Amino acid sequence: MTLAINEELLQQYPALKMIFERRSCRSFRSDPLPEDHLKALIESLRWAPSAGNRQPWRFYIVTSEQKKRDLADAAFGQSFIIPAPVVFAVVAVPEESYDRYGDRGRRLFCIQDTAAAVENLMLAATALGYGSCWIGAFDDSAVSQVLSLPSGHQPVAIIPVGRPAGYGRRTERRPSSETVFMVDD
Ligand SMILES: Cc1cc2nc3c(=O)[nH]c(=O)nc-3n(C[C@H](O)[C@H](O)[C@H](O)COP(=O)(O)O)c2cc1C
Repeated sequence: MTLAINEELLQQYPALKMIFERRSCRSFRSDPLPEDHLKALIESLRWAPSAGNRQPWRFYIVTSEQKKRDLADAAFGQSFIIPAPVVFAVVAVPEESYDRYGDRGRRLFCIQDTAAAVENLMLAATALGYGSCWIGAFDDSAVSQVLSLPSGHQPVAIIPVGRPAGYGRRTERRPSSETVFMVDD
């Protein structure tokens, strides 16, 4: 990994280190999570920032074998989620953002809010030594059916979490010259 960051900073600030330690995990051991770890992960979701603190989200925690299979089917056969001891589903409630922010809330804020919650979850999982993966490729209506979502609720991400059984190759990032721009007068 080519990381343009001072190693000492990473050692000094563990939260910073978690950002760079996180990587997608697609192979899980099935050991269950201790209750306090599960609670910490749930709190990391709940304490994400959201526009106007509307918290236009619902968090589903799936541990049943059958429901995990159903979610994997809804995610076009991404069966690597099944052995994970816990699978989270993060769901946006666009109307709760619309109430305050109109169309911008419905289209944008509720998605940003739930995305922030997902990242919080993955960083907390990393800090506790778990692997995780953001899964966004799924059939919305199939996921809604598996979770019995009320109409209008929008599934945003499925996130399996568990002890990693292995990792694929580390991903790289595009050069910063392509994606980072310093703006001055
Ligand atoms: C919005 C979004 C959707 C994603 N959907 C999937 C998915 O359906 N299946 C999967 O295996 N990974 C999925 N990923 C994970 C990305 O492939 C991964 O984050 C990217 O390749 C960078 O690798 P890293 O997470 O190891 O840094 C998704 C990530 C994001 C942010």
